[in-house]
Amino acid sequence: MSDQDSIFFRNFSLLLGALVLLTIILALVGISMQNKLVANVQGEADRTSIQESIKPIAAVNTDPNAVTEAAPVVLAAAFDGSLDGEMIYNNVCSACHTTGAGGAPKLIATEWDDRIAQGEETLLLHAIEGYMGENGLMPAKGGRMDLTDEQVQVTVLYMTDNLE
Ligand code: HEC
Repeated sequence: MSDQDSIFFRNFSLLLGALVLLTIILALVGISMQNKLVANVQGEADRTSIQESIKPIAAVNTDPNAVTEAAPVVLAAAFDGSLDGEMIYNNVCSACHTTGAGGAPKLIATEWDDRIAQGEETLLLHAIEGYMGENGLMPAKGGRMDLTDEQVQVTVLYMTDNLE
């Protein structure tokens, strides 16, 4: 082997070695980049699924054209609107007014004289709107807000007509 040949051989070997090294480096860089990419894609998927699972149940619709006529709320009257004062009394008012629970006046004349003296209008207003008296709390409509004012009126009349 001439000197020139051996120099060439050495340089060529170095070049080959360098190329192999470069290949390995590029392969490693490629692998690490791919890993990062996969991690990113997975992160993206995770983010969408997280956003999906924590999104609010409803959102305010800001589209002004989306406003629709609100359906009127129809409150069905209690007891199909029945004006049977005795039946309504037994179902709603007797819980307090028959037992005297919570300071409610029982259907005894002496407990009602002063109340009736206030006038029917006040009596009715108190029954419809409720009030806090000296004996206790009379809840509006006895707590049955689905009673109509008229239903409360016939019930109050039933009560004052049936004092012992
Ligand atoms: C949760 C108990 C309760 C129920 C149910 C209830 N009341 Fe009363 N009511 C009271 C109490 C307590 C008073 C007395 C308040 C006071 O004067 O201190 C009263 C008082 C009244 C009075 C007298 C008002 C006045 O100015 O003196 C009327 C009339 C009346 N209730 C009607 C009714 C009618 C009608 C119902 C059923 C629709 C009803 N109540 C259901 C507790 C109740």
